[in-house]
Amino acid sequence: MNVNGKPYRTIWLHPNDNSIIQVIDQRYLPHQFIIEDLATFEQVCTAIKEMHVRGAGVIGAAAAYGMYLASLEAKKNQVKDIQTFLHLAGKKLKATRPTAVNLAWAVNRQLEKIVTLNDNINLIIENSAKIAQTIAEEDVSFCQNIGKHGVKLLEDISHKKHGEVVNILTHCNAGWLGCVDNGTATSPIYEAYRRGIKVHVWVDETRPRNQGSTLTAWELGQEGVPHTIIPDNAGGHLMQHGLVDVVITGSDRTTYTGDVANKIGTYLKAVAAKDNNIPFYVALTYSAFDWEISDGVKQIPIEERDGREVKYMKGLHEGEIKEVLVTPENSPVANYGFDVTPARLITGLITERGICQPSAEGIFSLYPEKRC
Ligand code: MRU
Repeated sequence: MNVNGKPYRTIWLHPNDNSIIQVIDQRYLPHQFIIEDLATFEQVCTAIKEMHVRGAGVIGAAAAYGMYLASLEAKKNQVKDIQTFLHLAGKKLKATRPTAVNLAWAVNRQLEKIVTLNDNINLIIENSAKIAQTIAEEDVSFCQNIGKHGVKLLEDISHKKHGEVVNILTHCNAGWLGCVDNGTATSPIYEAYRRGIKVHVWVDETRPRNQGSTLTAWELGQEGVPHTIIPDNAGGHLMQHGLVDVVITGSDRTTYTGDVANKIGTYLKAVAAKDNNIPFYVALTYSAFDWEISDGVKQIPIEERDGREVKYMKGLHEGEIKEVLVTPENSPVANYGFDVTPARLITGLITERGICQPSAEGIFSLYPEKRC
C-alpha cells in the first residue's frame, strides 16, 4: 500500500544484499517513517518481541525470514549439528510472541522442509529463502482475496442504505501494516473504497499500544479512506445510536470451531455488537487457524506484556518522540495482550477462500483438506 504515494510492503529482502531483511519499524509511526535492516537472527527475534513488526501476518513472514537468516548463520559459523541449531532457532522464534499462531506455523513450515535436507546447508539456505518469499507472497495474495470476498458485505450494506455511507468499526491494526500488504480487516474496506462505495471507519484507539490510533489511522489516511479515531470505550455508545453498520476485526489465532483470539478489547466489541444486532466479522488468512484446538478461551495462550506499556504513553512533543508516565509510579498493572471472542458472538469469518460460519462445519467447508 502507499506511503506518501509510493507503494511499500512491511517486509522484504534488501534489494542489494540478500542476507539482510528490511522492515518498516512500526514503533515510530505515525510520526516517523523508518526502515530497519535486520541482518542477524537475533535482530529478527528482537524485532518481533519488541514489536518493531507486529500483527499476525507480518510476524509470520518475519519468523520465516528469521529461519533463513539462522541458516545463513549456520553456514557462516560452520555449525556441526545443523538440524539441532535450526530447531533451537525455531524454538526461540516461537517463544518471542505466543498468541499469533502464524508465527509458529511459519517456523514449522520451514522446519518441515529443513529436516528433509539433512545437513546440506546450501540446499537449506536456498529452500528457506524460497519458503520465506512464498509465505510473504501468499500473505499478499490471500489478503487481496479477503478484500474481494469481504467487499460483497459492504456492497450489500451500501445497497440497503441506498448509497449512504457505510460505517465500519475496527479494533487494533489488522491493516496492511499487520500483514505483508493489503491487511485482513482493512482489505474489504480498501476494496470498497476503490469501487466507489462510500465508507467511513471508526478506529478504536486500542490501548495500551494504540495500534488503532497510530497505525490504522495512519494507513487509512495514506490511502485517503475517511476515518475517525475513537477511545476504546466509545464503540458501544456508537452502536446504540445506529452509527456502526458492521464490525470487522483481524485474528491472531482462530480455533477450528471458530473462536477468535485478537487484540485485547475485541471481545467487548463483539458483546456490544451482539446486543445491538450489528454484524461482527473476523477477517483472516488460513495461517491464522489453529487446527489443533477447539476451545479458544481455555486453550489459546494469551501473551502478557510488560506493564510499562500501560504505565507510559508515547507521543510527539516538540518534534521528538517521548514517553510519559500516566499512572501512579508504583501502582501494579496487568497487561494482557489478547482476548478470545467465542464463535457464538461472530457473524462470519472472511477468508481468502470465501466467507464462512464460525463453526467447525463452516470452516471445514472452506478447508476440506483439514477435516480429519
Ligand atoms: O499485538 P499486535 O499489534 O501484534 O496485535 C495485532 C492484532 O491483534 C491484529 O488485529 C491481528 O494480528 C490481526 S492483523 C493480521
